[in-house]
Amino acid sequence: MTDKPAIFVTGGAGYVGSHACLALEKAGFTPIAFDNLSAGDKNRVKFGPFVEGDIKSPLSLMAAIRHYKPVAVMHFAGLISVGDSVKNPLSTYHNNVTGTLALLAAMKETGVKHMVFSSSAAVYGAPEATPIAENAPKAPLSPYGQTKLMAETILADCAAAGLLNYTALRYFNAAGATPEQGLGYNRADPTHLIPLALQTVLGKRPALEIFGNDYNSLDGTAVRDYVHVADLAEAHVAALKYLLAGGESVALNLGTSKGHSVLEVLAEVEKVTGKSVARVMRERRMGDAPVLVADAQLSKKVLDWSAKGSDLSQIIASDWAWHQTL
Ligand code: UFG
Repeated sequence: MTDKPAIFVTGGAGYVGSHACLALEKAGFTPIAFDNLSAGDKNRVKFGPFVEGDIKSPLSLMAAIRHYKPVAVMHFAGLISVGDSVKNPLSTYHNNVTGTLALLAAMKETGVKHMVFSSSAAVYGAPEATPIAENAPKAPLSPYGQTKLMAETILADCAAAGLLNYTALRYFNAAGATPEQGLGYNRADPTHLIPLALQTVLGKRPALEIFGNDYNSLDGTAVRDYVHVADLAEAHVAALKYLLAGGESVALNLGTSKGHSVLEVLAEVEKVTGKSVARVMRERRMGDAPVLVADAQLSKKVLDWSAKGSDLSQIIASDWAWHQTL
């Protein structure tokens, strides 16, 4: 053990969690990665100790927390597939809601009083107005989005009862990689646009399916706010410092405030890779919102954070470099 403050990172072997561990280590903390490896990869754990365990197991949580004595928790662990959550709602609710309850109970029992929570723009559903501010109506379109909203509600009630202070960070579209550290999104079967487009360029897929070209956007395809995963990680460290300094509980958007359509993303992929992306037009994907762009002013105000490395070209170039290493 070191004398650097320990931070307990659930899902620390995952895509965003491992980037947070890197950012924590750089900022002078010791990240304790706690992960059941259902989607995480042990190769990503290199910035502090690893504990294999499940957030649904209060005993493993308590043992690890008692051993490492963290000053705060960053909570990433959870099922993230929107489509799976529709097909298998019970496992998503169980992992994301029961798991969060078990973690909060373990924190209460051991006296850990700060949590940075990994939430999602999925809590907003398909908002009528963009950019989306934090006080926009919450109307999740999927069980996945519901679980994030439920966890936020539970956190707010715990904060009101004086158990902890927290930040709920609502990510827009996390993307990109840090290939020089061996970190990136490495599932063979991604569902996200940028990895799918890069796999298509690499010949691993015959064509990229474009889900809908009849949206009310400039070119008819859906618009998203893509934010680099390393920028997300920096926001988590800023949120941690804010909480440790006694900051009030708050929910914050993490995005760039800029939107890019599917066709714009594909054009940028072609520019970065120098290769064309084979494509085929499909119907809209169920549950997709036309436009999701963050109003990111509050995170700037509260955390003095903005996405500095999230130009679409930077995001795609980093992910392209990462894909060549797979
Ligand atoms: N898309 C395609 N073809 C594909 C994959 C995606 O056209 O093969 C389109 C989608 O329709 C969407 C855009 O590309 O318009 C981005 O899709 P992603 O699947 O990459 O990301 P989503 O916006 O659907 O999902 C993200 C997060 C979720 C979160 C959701 C809502 O990954 O966790 O935003 O905030 F729930």
